[in-house]
Amino acid sequence: MTTRRGFLRGSALSAAGGLLGSLPLARAAAPLTRSFAPQRLLNGEALQTQDFNGAGSLRAHAEARRLLTGCAVIPGKLRDDPEYASLVAAQANIIVPENALKWEQLRPAVGLFNFTEADAVVAFAAAHGQRVRGHTLCWHNQLPRWFASTATPENARQLLTEHIQRVAGRYAGRMHSWDVVNEAVDSENGRSDGLRKTPWLALLGDDYIEYAFKTAHAADPQALLTYNDFDIELDTPEQARKRAKILQLVRKLKGRGTPIDALGIQSHLGTTEAPAGAGLRSFVRELRRLGLQVFITELDVNDRKADGLVPDRDQAVARVYAQYLGLMLAEPNVTAVLTWGITDRYTWVGNKDPRPDGTPPRPLPFGPDYRPAPAFFAVRDSFDARTLA
Ligand code: XIL
Repeated sequence: MTTRRGFLRGSALSAAGGLLGSLPLARAAAPLTRSFAPQRLLNGEALQTQDFNGAGSLRAHAEARRLLTGCAVIPGKLRDDPEYASLVAAQANIIVPENALKWEQLRPAVGLFNFTEADAVVAFAAAHGQRVRGHTLCWHNQLPRWFASTATPENARQLLTEHIQRVAGRYAGRMHSWDVVNEAVDSENGRSDGLRKTPWLALLGDDYIEYAFKTAHAADPQALLTYNDFDIELDTPEQARKRAKILQLVRKLKGRGTPIDALGIQSHLGTTEAPAGAGLRSFVRELRRLGLQVFITELDVNDRKADGLVPDRDQAVARVYAQYLGLMLAEPNVTAVLTWGITDRYTWVGNKDPRPDGTPPRPLPFGPDYRPAPAFFAVRDSFDARTLA
């Protein structure tokens, strides 16, 4: 039986008590021209660890506003890098494996599942009173090499069914949410339904998204089921078209009774683009009317094109965090903020396009030395400014 789904799902989180009990109201966005600590707050004194841990952590500030906050994590680093593990434990009340739940990692060979790394993330979260997001059950990237030579129109439905049953079923009752389908929309390919041409579409036909959500709901009735996508944040014509196609998809799914609870907006941003604005705001409001929560699932700010020295770059990154979260957290159905990583030491940013000057990127709230960057204070201030109902 599918009743109106609870506002929050997943394993009990004793540390967070009554997290997300009621909906917050709208508030004004933060001003754009200020600068962000450490420079602003320190008065010449060194930042102490208590200033950003415990009551000063992102986690504590988020919980005071009934928000979820956290990051993508790398299981091997949780194991081998104690400073990284402490940072994740201190700052996050929700984590998501960056790669460990993708087909490529889980299914190294036909018929073989390897849950070691994903289990480690779920165990870490349980040990630290954190929720977990699952990412992702159905995606066209990071499929194992054997997939292309094995999947056929005859066996593909069974392959996907078995995958969702085994993976979502294994963690049933312990997942806050699942990215059931990732990046399935491509508004520029001429299809009127806006569906991206992927192996799943070719093998299963255009009802595969609905099928994946229904199968996931049967495997884990408690998890909030999410559709996740990228390049839908800005007011460019192309991103506006993509938002429209996603709304078309969501309306169709809702109209057919598909169990979809949330929209994941990846939020891979940059320092030189025009900021997100009215288009994103009305998108989030329309999703609210459709009964969906919105999760910021993969936030980071690429500073590849930011000029200047590190302090200037860090301020530019922090300004984007402040502007974006000011806009988004004014909307009561935006309930979770996850960054794609937590320290600049481990980030996917720059993998494809390194900075021209060869210096490492600084896209995340903590620097490569695990010290809070200006972006940390921008994020924390944006949580503080969230108004509760
Ligand atoms: C990225 C990971 O961060 C990298 O480590 C990996 O090599 C490629 O995938 N959108 C998504 C994420 O939904 O799964 C991607 O993660 C980043 C873009």
